[in-house]
Amino acid sequence: MLQLALPIVRTVAELRARVAAWRAQGDRIGLVPTMGALHEGHLSLVHLAKTRVRRVVASVFVNPTQFGPNEDFDAYPRDEAKDAQSLASAECDLLYAPTVTEMYPIGFSTSVTVSGVSATMDGIARPGHFSGVATVVSKLLLQCAPDVAVFGEKDYQQLLVIRRLVRDLDIPVEIIGAPTARLDDGLARSSRNAYLSEAERIVAGRMNVIMTDAAVRLRAGEAQDVVEAEGLAALKIAGFDRIDYFEVRGAEDLARPAKAPMRIFAAAFAGKTRLIDNMAV
Ligand code: PAF
Repeated sequence: MLQLALPIVRTVAELRARVAAWRAQGDRIGLVPTMGALHEGHLSLVHLAKTRVRRVVASVFVNPTQFGPNEDFDAYPRDEAKDAQSLASAECDLLYAPTVTEMYPIGFSTSVTVSGVSATMDGIARPGHFSGVATVVSKLLLQCAPDVAVFGEKDYQQLLVIRRLVRDLDIPVEIIGAPTARLDDGLARSSRNAYLSEAERIVAGRMNVIMTDAAVRLRAGEAQDVVEAEGLAALKIAGFDRIDYFEVRGAEDLARPAKAPMRIFAAAFAGKTRLIDNMAV
């Protein structure tokens, strides 16, 4: 098999030098920020970026500041060689894989907090999570200075947080949201699916079925609170161990009760694995 080599840089200076060389040739740049453990969903983000710009940089950085003290930072799957191979076959041009000290040098003291869209759902279930995301994404955008950056709609609340931060801080980049990649039974692709046992994997596959049913009911005019209560009950019956939320919200502002366009959001644990998903109504 042909082994494609992907250039890897680990410092901000090297990243900027590569990007500057491309800019000097007139190339436009795209950034796909990731935490690695790449799957088809991530590669679809690279493909989407590639339709918009000549050069695509993927970053792989498991960002410690977006994990809570009892979350899976240490256990988070890491396999740089495999990620590099996948990115090369997706025609990515550069892998940016900084170390934790490159990203957060000694004395690092700044944090970016986005209020409003951060204050609900995962903002409540995972205190500090969105500040960690907003801080690292601000840094990645300033380090790479891309024309476009692509994020998956699977983390829809995160996408809204990033859109808000880019607008509020006047960061000159176009944020592109990419549709969620799904497996055969509709389970959203996620690096955390790797944690699921066989039995948990079956439970996990029910989440999107329950959300699809809720979307049909909402379209038929059923009341939001009734649909939410039944969704919660259905997740319990399906075997989810702990449910953080099943909510109908405004797709643009996450307001509740939601005005159209609406979106359904769910977060629940299959065993020890926390899964999230969302769906347009
Ligand atoms: O979605 C992710 O993988 C992460 O939250 C991101 C955007 C790469 C920031 O660490």
